[in-house]
Amino acid sequence: MSRRPLIAANWKMHGTLESVQAYLETLVRRVPVAGPEVVLCPPFTLLPAAVMIASGSEVAIGAQNCHWEDKGAFTGEVAPTMLADLGIHWVIVGHSERRQYFGESDQTAAARAQAAQRAGLEVIFCLGETLEQREAGETMAVLERQSAVLAGLDPSHLAIAYEPVWAIGTGRTATTMQAQEAHAALRRRLAGLFGTEAAAALRILYGGSVKPDNAAVQLAQPDVDGALVGGASLDLEGFCAIIHAAPGGRRGAEE
Ligand code: 13P
Repeated sequence: MSRRPLIAANWKMHGTLESVQAYLETLVRRVPVAGPEVVLCPPFTLLPAAVMIASGSEVAIGAQNCHWEDKGAFTGEVAPTMLADLGIHWVIVGHSERRQYFGESDQTAAARAQAAQRAGLEVIFCLGETLEQREAGETMAVLERQSAVLAGLDPSHLAIAYEPVWAIGTGRTATTMQAQEAHAALRRRLAGLFGTEAAAALRILYGGSVKPDNAAVQLAQPDVDGALVGGASLDLEGFCAIIHAAPGGRRGAEE
């Protein structure tokens, strides 16, 4: 049983055709062989170009959201089957910005994740507490509630991203102790949902102001298996530095 580190870039609503081409053409050459798994999640409009450039390389492409139905009258939505049809391998689901601005709930996030897995996609499922919740001592209860809906998912096509909302885009990253504590609690929770063996194989990424200068210490924590990187991933050099900060090989509880 081992966990290969996973480093994912979430470009959010940033990027142009020109920028994704230049970025990816260099990134595919700079990703270390036998290093961490690397995923780039640009906006929907850039996905076809990204898939074409990354084809045959070590970089996988992911979307930032998908709908919970395969087709239908849902103006403005994108079905997971459409992403799979395009050659997309990953999708981010339940990001706190979706929860905060677009009415995403635990239930809709779970439905999207289930539909994504039915379409053959790998899911990065995001969760994390707000500052008010942390200060009220509710962090573990929030993580427990948010992770309850994972029960309906296939753990072998799933990664979890712990993204404390107060650390996203604020420059205020969680301390390594806060991250490790939350990740270890989540892994215990996942063991309850999926069994110890599946939980030991599941990757739990940290997200929230990951930068080249703090990535190595976060990624060295025993239960931090990768990073979901926002702002710092827009800069190719910064993202490459974060990739190189990840432990190269595989590691895990039962190596
Ligand atoms: P930042 O790295 O910009 O804090 O964003 C984190 C995030 O939300 C990744 O999904």
